[in-house]
Amino acid sequence: MDVSVVIPTYNERDNIHPLVERIHQALAPLGISYEIWFVDDSSDDTVAVLRDLEARDPAVHVFHRDHERGLASAVVRGFEKAQGRYLVVMDADLQHPPELLPAIYERLESGIDVVIPSRFVEGGSDGGLGPLRKLISWTARVIGQLALHRLRKISDCTSGFFGLRREVIEGVELNPIGWKILIEVLVKGRYRSVHEIAYEFVARDFGESKMSLKEQWNYFRHLVRLVSQSPPDRRFFLFCLIGLSGVVVNEAVLSLLWYGFHLRDTVASVAASFVAMLNNYFWNDRVTWKSESSGRGWGWKLPVFVGISVVGIAITTLVMRGCEGFGVPVPAGQAIGILVSTAWSYWMNSRVTWRNIEREARGDAIVVTRESVRDSLMRAKTGA
Ligand code: GDD
Ligand code: MN
Repeated sequence: MDVSVVIPTYNERDNIHPLVERIHQALAPLGISYEIWFVDDSSDDTVAVLRDLEARDPAVHVFHRDHERGLASAVVRGFEKAQGRYLVVMDADLQHPPELLPAIYERLESGIDVVIPSRFVEGGSDGGLGPLRKLISWTARVIGQLALHRLRKISDCTSGFFGLRREVIEGVELNPIGWKILIEVLVKGRYRSVHEIAYEFVARDFGESKMSLKEQWNYFRHLVRLVSQSPPDRRFFLFCLIGLSGVVVNEAVLSLLWYGFHLRDTVASVAASFVAMLNNYFWNDRVTWKSESSGRGWGWKLPVFVGISVVGIAITTLVMRGCEGFGVPVPAGQAIGILVSTAWSYWMNSRVTWRNIEREARGDAIVVTRESVRDSLMRAKTGA
């Protein structure tokens, strides 16, 4: 089997027939073998429509779940059923054009591991969403990309439309929460190349979106779970959390010295930062880089950390003084300084103090390529 198209459905009765017809029109001319797996959780008569089609169309298969719901888990179920070398996931509501299937197939055939039709590559659009959904969707993507480094270079990491080689997920335990199966695949999968193709996400003709506040909450839970399962992302998150604990320590000490003991602003700032530095070192050493650093102890770790932190303190103090010049209260100026020096020290600690670990992480460099609508039209014309 060459291609398995996996389609989650929830109350999509009127979309099934036009969808299957357009998939056949797209894939039949390629002369490849393919199957369509519907994983259905519907409460209406979608399943009857699907069963009827399954009886008449040998390419169509249906798996109905009675007591389970969830887009992402439905897709995982579909992956288990699918026989294809290549797996393609798409929505049932025709917001994902089946006409893109040949291009996805060709790019996989050319050796790419993951192919993602993207709304955000030049020539693409997310016109099928209202303004509020666009904003929510943008926010979700940005939060995801901040939290998970593997999503950073992917323009449409929350897409429900993508294709991959079976090997990408073979032997990988997928346990997504909610909707976004692609982030699960991108974070846990084994792949080296990702290719994005611009496309237009159009509005629905039939039925309605099942997106809800609950799914947005599930997305957040899913991110937290993925971060906790992904060591490099967990490290950054822990570093920030420890940095936050340092902020509390820093501001508490500063306030004590400034308001309580009436020390000079510079002295109070430096002393507060030193105490915070010790707090941060203690926790980073025991938590953030714990398992990796134990065993291959590096004698320079502490002095280097201290050196980086001292420069960080200088940065904090300079920023605080600079802000004071603009009339910003001392504790607030200090807070801004802390933000700047935290960025500095994470960058330096990951590149110098704990550089061995970072080198390992860079080993999984993934190549992302893009093609705009114009590229694919050119390709079609020249037959390339
Ligand atoms: N089996 C199953 N179970 N399928 C479901 C469920 C469920 O609980 N909930 C939704 N689906 C199916 C729908 O029937 C549809 O085929 C697809 O999942 C997407 O659902 P829509 O309700 O159409 O989602 P949307 O248009 O709001 O969201 C789209 O945009 C997102 C990007 O912002 C989808 O394309 C998402 O996949 C995509 O991530
Ligand atoms: Mn939709």
